[in-house]
Amino acid sequence: MHVVVTGGGGFLGSHLCDALLRRGDHVLCVDDLSTGDPENTAHLAGHPGFTFVQADVTAALEVPGPVDAVAHLASPASPPDYHRRPLATLAVGSRGTENALRLAVARRARFVLASTSEVYGDPVVHPQREDYWGNVNPVGPRSVYDEAKRFAEALSTAYRRTLDADVGILRIFNTYGPRMRPHDGRVVSTFIRQALDGEPLTIYGDGSQTRSFCYVDDLVRGIVAMIDSDLPGPLNLGNPSERTVRELAELVRGATGSESGLEFRPLPVDDPTRRRPVITRAQHQLGWFPQVTIEEGLRQTVGWFRSRRGQASAERTARKPVRC
Ligand SMILES: NC(=O)c1ccc[n+]([C@@H]2O[C@H](COP(=O)([O-])OP(=O)(O)OC[C@H]3O[C@@H](n4cnc5c(N)ncnc54)[C@H](O)[C@@H]3O)[C@@H](O)[C@H]2O)c1
Repeated sequence: MHVVVTGGGGFLGSHLCDALLRRGDHVLCVDDLSTGDPENTAHLAGHPGFTFVQADVTAALEVPGPVDAVAHLASPASPPDYHRRPLATLAVGSRGTENALRLAVARRARFVLASTSEVYGDPVVHPQREDYWGNVNPVGPRSVYDEAKRFAEALSTAYRRTLDADVGILRIFNTYGPRMRPHDGRVVSTFIRQALDGEPLTIYGDGSQTRSFCYVDDLVRGIVAMIDSDLPGPLNLGNPSERTVRELAELVRGATGSESGLEFRPLPVDDPTRRRPVITRAQHQLGWFPQVTIEEGLRQTVGWFRSRRGQASAERTARKPVRC
Protein backbone atom coordinates (compact mmCIF):
# COMPACT_ATOMS: atom_id res chain seq x y z
CA MET A 1 0.00 0.00 0.00
CA HIS A 2 0.97 3.65 -0.41
CA VAL A 3 0.09 5.34 2.86
CA VAL A 4 0.23 9.04 3.67
CA VAL A 5 0.85 9.58 7.39
CA THR A 6 0.21 13.15 8.55
CA GLY A 7 1.99 13.84 11.82
CA GLY A 8 4.38 10.98 11.04
CA GLY A 9 7.26 12.85 12.67
CA GLY A 10 5.58 12.65 16.08
CA PHE A 11 5.46 10.01 18.79
CA LEU A 12 2.65 7.77 17.48
CA GLY A 13 3.08 8.70 13.82
CA SER A 14 6.73 7.65 13.69
CA HIS A 15 5.91 4.25 15.21
CA LEU A 16 3.11 3.91 12.65
CA CYS A 17 5.58 4.69 9.83
CA ASP A 18 7.90 1.98 11.21
CA ALA A 19 5.10 -0.60 11.35
CA LEU A 20 3.88 0.15 7.81
CA LEU A 21 7.41 0.03 6.37
CA ARG A 22 8.11 -3.25 8.19
CA ARG A 23 5.31 -4.93 6.27
CA GLY A 24 6.46 -3.49 2.94
CA ASP A 25 4.20 -0.45 2.49
CA HIS A 26 5.39 2.83 0.99
CA VAL A 27 5.03 5.70 3.43
CA LEU A 28 4.86 9.41 2.74
CA CYS A 29 5.17 11.25 6.03
CA VAL A 30 3.91 14.85 6.09
CA ASP A 31 4.80 16.80 9.21
CA ASP A 32 5.56 20.43 10.01
CA LEU A 33 7.62 19.33 13.05
CA SER A 34 5.76 21.80 15.25
CA THR A 35 5.62 19.22 18.06
CA GLY A 36 7.44 16.36 16.31
CA ASP A 37 11.12 15.58 16.35
CA PRO A 38 13.28 14.82 13.28
CA GLU A 39 15.06 12.23 15.46
CA ASN A 40 11.89 10.11 15.45
CA THR A 41 12.29 9.26 11.77
CA ALA A 42 16.05 9.83 11.39
CA HIS A 43 16.61 6.05 11.22
CA LEU A 44 14.32 5.90 8.15
CA ALA A 45 16.39 8.31 6.06
CA GLY A 46 17.48 6.41 2.96
CA HIS A 47 14.81 3.72 3.37
CA PRO A 48 13.55 3.10 -0.18
CA GLY A 49 9.90 3.06 0.91
CA PHE A 50 10.01 6.21 3.03
CA THR A 51 9.60 9.86 2.06
CA PHE A 52 9.49 12.76 4.51
CA VAL A 53 7.90 16.06 3.52
CA GLN A 54 8.06 18.94 5.97
CA ALA A 55 4.78 20.80 5.45
CA ASP A 56 1.81 22.23 7.33
CA VAL A 57 -1.30 20.23 6.41
CA THR A 58 -3.55 23.22 7.17
CA ALA A 59 -2.05 25.03 4.15
CA ALA A 60 -2.51 22.25 1.59
CA LEU A 61 -1.96 18.54 1.19
CA GLU A 62 -0.87 17.74 -2.32
CA VAL A 63 0.82 14.42 -2.83
CA PRO A 64 2.34 13.02 -6.02
CA GLY A 65 1.91 9.36 -6.96
CA PRO A 66 -0.53 6.71 -5.76
CA VAL A 67 -2.31 6.96 -2.41
CA ASP A 68 -4.21 3.98 -0.95
CA ALA A 69 -4.69 5.31 2.56
CA VAL A 70 -4.35 8.52 4.54
CA ALA A 71 -3.74 8.23 8.29
CA HIS A 72 -4.39 11.65 9.76
CA LEU A 73 -2.44 12.02 12.99
CA ALA A 74 -1.22 15.61 12.66
CA SER A 75 -2.22 17.62 15.73
CA PRO A 76 -0.64 18.86 18.91
CA ALA A 77 -1.60 16.21 21.46
CA SER A 78 -0.35 17.08 24.94
CA PRO A 79 -1.92 19.83 27.05
CA PRO A 80 1.22 22.06 27.11
CA ASP A 81 1.47 21.73 23.32
CA TYR A 82 -2.13 22.66 22.58
CA HIS A 83 -2.16 25.42 25.21
CA ARG A 84 0.93 26.87 23.50
CA ARG A 85 -0.65 26.51 20.02
CA PRO A 86 -4.41 26.95 20.51
CA LEU A 87 -5.23 28.40 17.07
CA ALA A 88 -2.94 25.94 15.29
CA THR A 89 -4.69 23.09 17.15
CA LEU A 90 -8.12 24.23 15.97
CA ALA A 91 -6.77 24.79 12.45
CA VAL A 92 -5.27 21.31 12.12
CA GLY A 93 -8.43 19.70 13.48
CA SER A 94 -10.58 21.61 10.99
CA ARG A 95 -8.70 22.77 7.86
CA GLY A 96 -6.00 20.14 8.26
CA THR A 97 -8.57 17.36 8.56
CA GLU A 98 -10.48 18.68 5.54
CA ASN A 99 -7.31 18.80 3.42
CA ALA A 100 -6.52 15.21 4.42
CA LEU A 101 -10.10 14.11 3.68
CA ARG A 102 -10.03 15.83 0.26
CA LEU A 103 -6.83 14.01 -0.62
CA ALA A 104 -8.37 10.67 0.38
CA VAL A 105 -11.56 11.31 -1.59
CA ALA A 106 -9.67 12.47 -4.70
CA ARG A 107 -7.62 9.24 -4.68
CA ARG A 108 -10.46 6.95 -3.50
CA ALA A 109 -8.22 6.12 -0.56
CA ARG A 110 -9.04 4.88 2.92
CA PHE A 111 -9.00 7.68 5.53
CA VAL A 112 -8.30 7.03 9.22
CA LEU A 113 -8.72 9.83 11.75
CA ALA A 114 -6.68 9.74 14.96
CA SER A 115 -9.33 11.12 17.29
CA THR A 116 -9.07 10.95 21.05
CA SER A 117 -10.69 9.92 24.31
CA GLU A 118 -10.77 13.67 25.00
CA VAL A 119 -13.98 13.82 22.95
CA TYR A 120 -15.55 12.32 26.10
CA GLY A 121 -14.27 15.32 28.10
CA ASP A 122 -14.69 14.83 31.85
CA PRO A 123 -17.01 11.84 31.44
CA VAL A 124 -20.13 11.42 33.56
CA VAL A 125 -20.47 7.86 32.19
CA HIS A 126 -17.83 5.33 33.20
CA PRO A 127 -16.23 3.39 31.56
CA GLN A 128 -16.53 5.09 28.17
CA ARG A 129 -18.28 3.34 25.28
CA GLU A 130 -18.34 4.81 21.81
CA ASP A 131 -22.06 5.66 22.07
CA TYR A 132 -21.40 8.07 24.96
CA TRP A 133 -21.51 11.67 23.65
CA GLY A 134 -19.16 13.18 26.19
CA ASN A 135 -19.03 16.06 28.61
CA VAL A 136 -16.88 18.82 27.13
CA ASN A 137 -16.75 22.47 28.18
CA PRO A 138 -16.67 24.30 24.82
CA VAL A 139 -15.02 27.38 26.33
CA GLY A 140 -12.75 25.67 28.86
CA PRO A 141 -8.96 25.60 28.61
CA ARG A 142 -8.96 22.13 27.00
CA SER A 143 -11.61 23.02 24.44
CA VAL A 144 -9.20 23.89 21.63
CA TYR A 145 -8.11 20.26 21.48
CA ASP A 146 -11.31 18.49 22.50
CA GLU A 147 -13.56 20.51 20.19
CA ALA A 148 -11.06 20.36 17.31
CA LYS A 149 -11.21 16.57 17.51
CA ARG A 150 -15.00 16.56 17.88
CA PHE A 151 -15.23 18.77 14.77
CA ALA A 152 -12.78 16.47 12.95
CA GLU A 153 -15.06 13.51 13.77
CA ALA A 154 -18.13 15.43 12.56
CA LEU A 155 -16.36 16.45 9.34
CA SER A 156 -15.12 12.91 8.66
CA THR A 157 -18.62 11.55 9.25
CA ALA A 158 -20.12 14.15 6.89
CA TYR A 159 -17.62 13.14 4.20
CA ARG A 160 -18.68 9.52 4.66
CA ARG A 161 -22.40 10.39 4.51
CA THR A 162 -22.34 12.88 1.65
CA LEU A 163 -19.39 11.72 -0.48
CA ASP A 164 -19.32 8.04 0.47
CA ALA A 165 -15.75 8.52 1.66
CA ASP A 166 -14.07 5.42 3.14
CA VAL A 167 -13.61 6.99 6.55
CA GLY A 168 -12.69 5.33 9.86
CA ILE A 169 -12.54 7.08 13.22
CA LEU A 170 -10.33 5.90 16.09
CA ARG A 171 -10.65 7.31 19.60
CA ILE A 172 -7.21 6.84 21.09
CA PHE A 173 -6.75 6.73 24.88
CA ASN A 174 -3.53 7.63 26.72
CA THR A 175 -0.61 5.94 25.01
CA TYR A 176 3.01 5.84 26.13
CA GLY A 177 6.31 4.46 24.95
CA PRO A 178 9.70 5.31 23.47
CA ARG A 179 9.94 8.66 21.61
CA MET A 180 7.72 10.57 24.01
CA ARG A 181 9.39 13.90 24.63
CA PRO A 182 10.69 14.20 28.22
CA HIS A 183 9.13 17.66 28.52
CA ASP A 184 5.88 17.03 26.63
CA GLY A 185 3.88 17.42 29.85
CA ARG A 186 2.22 13.98 29.65
CA VAL A 187 2.06 12.11 32.90
CA VAL A 188 4.13 9.03 31.95
CA SER A 189 6.99 10.96 30.35
CA THR A 190 6.98 13.53 33.17
CA PHE A 191 7.12 10.88 35.91
CA ILE A 192 9.91 8.96 34.17
CA ARG A 193 11.98 12.10 33.60
CA GLN A 194 11.49 13.23 37.20
CA ALA A 195 12.29 9.77 38.59
CA LEU A 196 15.49 9.48 36.53
CA ASP A 197 16.54 12.98 37.56
CA GLY A 198 15.88 12.22 41.24
CA GLU A 199 13.22 14.96 41.39
CA PRO A 200 9.87 14.60 43.18
CA LEU A 201 7.08 13.21 40.99
CA THR A 202 4.44 15.95 40.62
CA ILE A 203 0.88 14.76 41.16
CA TYR A 204 -2.00 17.08 40.34
CA GLY A 205 -4.84 16.77 42.85
CA ASP A 206 -4.63 13.85 45.29
CA GLY A 207 -3.64 11.37 42.55
CA SER A 208 -6.92 9.45 42.75
CA GLN A 209 -7.89 10.45 39.19
CA THR A 210 -7.55 7.51 36.81
CA ARG A 211 -6.16 6.94 33.34
CA SER A 212 -5.78 3.82 31.21
CA PHE A 213 -2.34 3.54 29.65
CA CYS A 214 -1.73 1.68 26.40
CA TYR A 215 1.75 0.75 25.16
CA VAL A 216 2.58 2.23 21.78
CA ASP A 217 3.18 -1.10 19.97
CA ASP A 218 -0.31 -2.29 20.91
CA LEU A 219 -1.86 0.98 19.81
CA VAL A 220 -0.08 1.03 16.46
CA ARG A 221 -1.27 -2.53 15.72
CA GLY A 222 -4.79 -1.18 16.15
CA ILE A 223 -4.21 1.75 13.79
CA VAL A 224 -2.80 -0.57 11.12
CA ALA A 225 -5.80 -2.92 11.49
CA MET A 226 -8.13 0.08 11.10
CA ILE A 227 -6.28 1.20 7.94
CA ASP A 228 -6.73 -2.31 6.52
CA SER A 229 -10.46 -2.43 7.33
CA ASP A 230 -13.41 -0.50 5.92
CA LEU A 231 -14.95 0.07 9.35
CA PRO A 232 -16.46 3.50 10.01
CA GLY A 233 -15.91 3.52 13.77
CA PRO A 234 -15.75 5.33 16.00
CA LEU A 235 -13.69 2.67 17.75
CA ASN A 236 -12.00 3.11 21.12
CA LEU A 237 -8.35 2.04 21.15
CA GLY A 238 -6.77 1.89 24.57
CA ASN A 239 -5.85 -0.37 27.42
CA PRO A 240 -8.82 -0.94 29.75
CA SER A 241 -6.54 -1.58 32.71
CA GLU A 242 -7.34 1.56 34.73
CA ARG A 243 -4.77 3.02 37.13
CA THR A 244 -4.83 5.96 39.48
CA VAL A 245 -2.16 8.56 38.84
CA ARG A 246 -0.74 7.73 42.26
CA GLU A 247 -0.47 4.04 41.29
CA LEU A 248 1.31 5.08 38.11
CA ALA A 249 3.80 7.09 40.17
CA GLU A 250 4.56 3.97 42.22
CA LEU A 251 4.96 1.86 39.07
CA VAL A 252 7.38 4.41 37.61
CA ARG A 253 9.36 4.50 40.86
CA GLY A 254 9.57 0.70 40.66
CA ALA A 255 10.58 0.64 36.99
CA THR A 256 13.31 3.26 37.48
CA GLY A 257 14.47 2.13 40.94
CA SER A 258 14.03 5.77 41.98
CA GLU A 259 13.49 6.97 45.54
CA SER A 260 11.93 10.25 44.39
CA GLY A 261 9.19 11.57 46.65
CA LEU A 262 5.76 12.77 45.57
CA GLU A 263 4.79 16.44 45.31
CA PHE A 264 1.09 17.37 45.20
CA ARG A 265 -0.17 20.37 43.21
CA PRO A 266 -3.69 21.76 42.55
CA LEU A 267 -5.76 19.89 39.95
CA PRO A 268 -6.00 21.82 36.64
CA VAL A 269 -9.42 23.13 35.52
CA ASP A 270 -11.58 20.55 33.67
CA ASP A 271 -9.04 17.77 34.27
CA PRO A 272 -10.89 14.48 33.59
CA THR A 273 -11.31 12.49 36.80
CA ARG A 274 -11.83 9.04 35.28
CA ARG A 275 -10.85 7.41 32.03
CA ARG A 276 -11.27 3.83 30.89
CA PRO A 277 -12.18 2.62 27.42
CA VAL A 278 -14.69 -0.08 26.67
CA ILE A 279 -12.90 -1.87 23.83
CA THR A 280 -15.43 -4.58 22.91
CA ARG A 281 -16.06 -2.93 19.52
CA ALA A 282 -12.36 -2.98 18.60
CA GLN A 283 -12.11 -6.54 19.95
CA HIS A 284 -15.08 -7.81 17.91
CA GLN A 285 -14.70 -5.73 14.77
CA LEU A 286 -10.90 -5.48 14.45
CA GLY A 287 -9.85 -8.51 16.49
CA TRP A 288 -7.67 -6.07 18.45
CA PHE A 289 -6.78 -6.05 22.11
CA PRO A 290 -3.73 -4.78 23.98
CA GLN A 291 -1.13 -7.35 24.99
CA VAL A 292 1.67 -5.44 26.72
CA THR A 293 1.42 -5.13 30.51
CA ILE A 294 2.13 -1.76 32.06
CA GLU A 295 5.17 -3.23 33.85
CA GLU A 296 6.68 -4.41 30.55
CA GLY A 297 5.71 -1.21 28.70
CA LEU A 298 7.28 0.95 31.40
CA ARG A 299 10.42 -1.20 31.34
CA GLN A 300 10.79 -0.56 27.59
CA THR A 301 10.01 3.13 27.94
CA VAL A 302 12.36 3.69 30.87
CA GLY A 303 15.10 1.89 28.92
CA TRP A 304 14.60 4.30 26.04
CA PHE A 305 14.53 7.35 28.31
CA ARG A 306 17.75 6.19 29.98
CA SER A 307 19.43 5.90 26.60
CA ARG A 308 18.36 9.47 25.82
CA ARG A 309 19.12 10.99 29.20
CA GLY A 310 21.97 13.10 27.99
CA GLN A 311 19.67 14.73 25.49
CA ALA A 312 16.95 15.21 28.11
CA SER A 313 19.28 17.01 30.47
CA ALA A 314 20.49 19.24 27.61
CA GLU A 315 16.84 20.11 26.86
CA ARG A 316 16.28 20.92 30.54
CA THR A 317 19.32 23.18 30.62
CA ALA A 318 18.14 24.96 27.47
CA ARG A 319 14.78 25.66 29.14
CA LYS A 320 16.33 27.42 32.13
CA PRO A 321 15.90 31.20 31.83
CA VAL A 322 19.08 32.95 30.75
CA ARG A 323 20.20 35.63 33.25
CA CYS A 324 21.95 38.58 31.68
N1 LIG B 1 -0.36 9.88 22.36
C1 LIG B 1 -1.56 9.79 22.87
O1 LIG B 1 -1.71 9.35 24.01
C2 LIG B 1 -2.77 10.18 22.06
C3 LIG B 1 -4.03 9.99 22.64
C4 LIG B 1 -5.15 10.35 21.90
C5 LIG B 1 -5.02 10.83 20.62
N2 LIG B 1 -3.80 11.00 20.08
C6 LIG B 1 -3.72 11.58 18.74
O2 LIG B 1 -2.73 10.92 17.98
C7 LIG B 1 -2.08 11.86 17.13
C8 LIG B 1 -0.58 11.79 17.35
O3 LIG B 1 -0.30 12.12 18.71
P1 LIG B 1 1.17 12.05 19.30
O4 LIG B 1 1.03 11.63 20.70
O5 LIG B 1 2.03 11.27 18.39
O6 LIG B 1 1.56 13.60 19.29
P2 LIG B 1 2.88 14.31 18.68
O7 LIG B 1 2.79 15.74 19.06
O8 LIG B 1 4.08 13.54 19.07
O9 LIG B 1 2.66 14.12 17.12
C9 LIG B 1 1.84 14.97 16.36
C10 LIG B 1 2.60 15.33 15.10
O10 LIG B 1 1.77 16.16 14.28
C11 LIG B 1 2.60 17.18 13.73
N3 LIG B 1 1.75 18.32 13.36
C12 LIG B 1 1.02 19.09 14.20
N4 LIG B 1 0.36 20.04 13.49
C13 LIG B 1 0.68 19.84 12.19
C14 LIG B 1 0.32 20.48 10.97
N5 LIG B 1 -0.50 21.54 10.95
N6 LIG B 1 0.84 20.02 9.81
C15 LIG B 1 1.68 18.94 9.81
N7 LIG B 1 2.05 18.29 10.92
C16 LIG B 1 1.55 18.73 12.10
C17 LIG B 1 3.60 17.49 14.82
O11 LIG B 1 4.76 18.14 14.37
C18 LIG B 1 3.89 16.10 15.38
O12 LIG B 1 4.97 15.49 14.73
C19 LIG B 1 -2.67 13.23 17.43
O13 LIG B 1 -3.66 13.51 16.46
C20 LIG B 1 -3.31 13.03 18.78
O14 LIG B 1 -4.41 13.89 18.96
C21 LIG B 1 -2.67 10.70 20.77
